[in-house]
Amino acid sequence: MIDKLVMATNNKNKLREAREILSPLGIEVISQQEAGVNIEPVEDGQTFGENALIKAKAIYNVVKVPVIADDSGLCVDALGGRPSVHSARYAPKGQECDKILTEMRDVPDGKRTAYFECCIVYIDSDGTESMSGRCYGTIAHEQRGTDGFGYDPVFRYGNKTLAEMSPDEKNSISHRGVAMRKLYEYLEKKKGE
Ligand code: IMP
Repeated sequence: MIDKLVMATNNKNKLREAREILSPLGIEVISQQEAGVNIEPVEDGQTFGENALIKAKAIYNVVKVPVIADDSGLCVDALGGRPSVHSARYAPKGQECDKILTEMRDVPDGKRTAYFECCIVYIDSDGTESMSGRCYGTIAHEQRGTDGFGYDPVFRYGNKTLAEMSPDEKNSISHRGVAMRKLYEYLEKKKGE
């Protein structure tokens, strides 16, 4: 019976989102800080899944209660899939959109496709389970919108950038929202067993 899990993050937005999605299951989500864990494992995996697993295992080995960890990033087709697992360190914080726009300046419409990917790993005494989500869109020619974070102002979905969407609107189509809803379904099934 799962009634509490530790999320391998201290990011308030990720915690709020996980709490909102999992609360109907009666599962309390606590941050790694609230669980008293103060470690930052080296995320040197080649994929989002490998990095999420590294984080989940590191925290689980300390807390020994169910853990979820996620890893995500942007993959741009015209850049050979970059920045991918290097999304967080691709440019100094706040400069990632400018850098993408500069790198993409000669790429024509039709070749500006990209996607965000998120992988979530769940781990408990039974083993591990992973779920992923993608959000497909294009890289805009300029930044638009003030909501969100990271690459949101340059990532177009339909006729808006993610930074022009409300949090609920973004959650309904985002890579993280898709993966989180898969986690919800997995935990719902596991609770019923
Ligand atoms: P992490 O999953 O927190 O490690 O995210 C890695 C990096 O990917 C972040 O620092 C952002 O730059 C980028 N990223 C991940 N998800 C999003 C998103 O939903 N919008 C914009 N950028 C994102």
